[in-house]
Amino acid sequence: MNNFTFYNPVKILFGKGQISKLSKEIPAEARVMVTYGGGSIKKNGVYDQVMEALKEHTVLEFSNIEPNPHYETLMQAVEIARRQNIDFLLAVGGGSIVDGTKFIAAAIPFEGGDPWDILSKRAPVETAVPFGAVLTLPATGSEMNAGAVITRVETKEKLSFGSPHTFPKFSVLDPETTFSLPLRQISNGIVDAFTHVLEQYLTYPVNAPLQDRMAESILLTLKEEGPKAMQNPGDYDTMANFMWSATMALNGVIRVGVPTDWATHYIAHELTALHGIDHARTLAVVLPALLRYKSETKKEKLLQYGKRIWGVDAGTEDECIEATIQATIAFFESLDINTRLSDYQVGEDTIRRIVQRFQERGVKDLGERADIQVEDVQQILTMSL
Ligand code: NZQ
Ligand code: ZN
Repeated sequence: MNNFTFYNPVKILFGKGQISKLSKEIPAEARVMVTYGGGSIKKNGVYDQVMEALKEHTVLEFSNIEPNPHYETLMQAVEIARRQNIDFLLAVGGGSIVDGTKFIAAAIPFEGGDPWDILSKRAPVETAVPFGAVLTLPATGSEMNAGAVITRVETKEKLSFGSPHTFPKFSVLDPETTFSLPLRQISNGIVDAFTHVLEQYLTYPVNAPLQDRMAESILLTLKEEGPKAMQNPGDYDTMANFMWSATMALNGVIRVGVPTDWATHYIAHELTALHGIDHARTLAVVLPALLRYKSETKKEKLLQYGKRIWGVDAGTEDECIEATIQATIAFFESLDINTRLSDYQVGEDTIRRIVQRFQERGVKDLGERADIQVEDVQQILTMSL
């Protein structure tokens, strides 16, 4: 097992009725900005619950943060928050709202020049305005990690940042808030969380059986509960299990002491940046091609994954690996998620654009062995056509 440091200070309030506890988590004298998206929280009653819980607080609202939150929109929130002396933020929504709020929190006190540098130059975040979250979409794990992904519309860039200062102070996870989710977002959430686990598990063995089995337990739970969530999004226990699985998939626990990949995410973000395809769908396109392309260096873990998650153990090693990748594709497609680039009307011109961008950005050494170069990205994307 590799050396590691583990730090995760996020307090989780899990279960029905927990939104009512918000007032105790936010200092009474705080000037709070509540951030949210296009209005789902007004339709499903979450907005009313939040406002009821905060009725004794000074509250200002900032709405209309988009999916794949836009830097341009978030900077408007930063301006308002600075003018209004906001000293606490509360994100209410999915991963885009939590991510966007992390950026707002970091940008408000940022003194290192243009806040875009936090994303484009990884300018250090020395401090951030404290914030909490009320999560309404199990998927990203953003509610219990310190990372965020932000899109600049002007340049069609989608970049990430993270800092020890951008962990939420707390996150409320009430499975009842997910009952209103459209099937498309449920399937996105399952595939995103599943891929988060694979990015931290499908690498190479370092004799870390506990991390392996924890990762496998999340995969098995998503495999079992995911289809149930699609069939019955109003079932509390199913949504509770799905919600906690998605959080556990990316809160840092399964990453400790093991190599991690993240090349699928890095490449897939470009497809959202250029074409606006949902994050999870871009992962479902890139992952199978990447696994095939790297099947030799990922062999041991692919065989273990196939055997323990999909029961694949007959045939040669190559046959088992192909059957395992096929099982993964079948799982994604059973959730109505297409897995080929051409399914999204994306072709070779986009691959050329991504390759050019990566060359300009000096992208190199992706993946757990730092052996994926721009030429490999081109081949992986071509395999996904
Ligand atoms: O805007 P509203 O009206 O709220 O509607 C949203 C949005 O249209 C809707 N929605 C959310 N909760 C709902 C609901 N509709 C009905 N009922 C509810 N309970 O769902 C739509 C999508 O929301 P969004 O927040 O964009 O989805 P998701 O949670 O999948 O977040 C995706 C973003 O997270 C980033 C992605 O790149 C993408 O920008 N990621 C963040 C990560 C992190 N911080 O660790 C890791 C991930 O790999 C990912 O990159
Ligand atoms: Zn993801």
